[in-house]
Amino acid sequence: MAKEKLAETAVNKIEKVFGEHKTYRRAHSRGTGYKAVFTANGEGKNWTVARHLREGTTKAVVRFSHSSPDPFWTDNLSPVKGMAVQFQLPDGQVMNSVGVTSPIFFSRTPEVFTEMLDIAKSFKKGKPRLRDLIKLFIKYPESRAAIRIIRKMQSPASFATGLYHSIHAFYLVNGTGQRIPVKFQWHPEAGVESLNPVEAASVKKGDFEKELEERVIRGETAFRLIAVIGDTDDPVDDPTKDWAEDRKKVELGRIVLTEKTDEAEGLLYDPTILAEGVECTDDPILHFRNPAYAISYMRREGEKQKES
Ligand code: HEM
Repeated sequence: MAKEKLAETAVNKIEKVFGEHKTYRRAHSRGTGYKAVFTANGEGKNWTVARHLREGTTKAVVRFSHSSPDPFWTDNLSPVKGMAVQFQLPDGQVMNSVGVTSPIFFSRTPEVFTEMLDIAKSFKKGKPRLRDLIKLFIKYPESRAAIRIIRKMQSPASFATGLYHSIHAFYLVNGTGQRIPVKFQWHPEAGVESLNPVEAASVKKGDFEKELEERVIRGETAFRLIAVIGDTDDPVDDPTKDWAEDRKKVELGRIVLTEKTDEAEGLLYDPTILAEGVECTDDPILHFRNPAYAISYMRREGEKQKES
């Protein structure tokens, strides 16, 4: 099946499983946006020609989200949180950097992802029952690691205390044209902090959004951008596999949230849109996200226009 057709099938299935929530994103439906400023620390000059990662400051719009496609789920039912950053370069280029609090993804290919949505129909409170889990583990052994992580995952205590992973590998392109495989991470300056199950149970819908707004008013809320440098043998096209913990990590700069904005809700954080100096790998899931996000964007923005 062509990539676009399969993406439409996948988005339709998401709507069937989690409900059709008009005007919302079809995944990571509920979120909150902030204007931000990224300041490169100069280290990027050793790794890439991408201007915003080499020097100076760049404007950005950041959206934090709960992963559920259902905006009415309480915050604790979506332990995986998202952080989407759109760098807006002065020359008009944009670069999206989209991360979640899980280091790996649960499907290796778009076909498996779309098939898995059928099994997800039976999930209770977003988590698979043992019977479904065994089915998944037998059929898709490569998905075991991510499903185990997601099942045990505790929500960060705040959007500002999550460590967000790009999951996919990308290439940084340097001045000699060399392509260096990297995975991006956003590290919270507030430190990584998670909720225990008792704390998580008391979280109500919208608590995370409120807490972040108060935190930004109170003081500086920032994240450090880290590039994890891949070794020659590290897989660059398999989001179900993490790289070894001891890989070299390079800090490229920091992003500071400045003020709340509604702008993020209308943006499309397509992770394949990158600036010169950063390129996509051949990861099939990464490339599948391009048509899937476009379909979701067209539906939600079309619905907003009809409502207005
Ligand atoms: C088969 C693979 C995937 C599909 C089909 C998919 C689907 C979607 C869709 C339809 C949206 C809403 C897009 C919009 O309306 O703008 C979305 C948002 C999002 N996805 Fe995925 N996704 C996939 C993989 C991933 C992976 C691997 C990550 C990990 C980084 C991820 C993180 C996010 C985040 C953080 C958002 C919210 C972005 C925002 O705030 O606009 N997704 N996804």
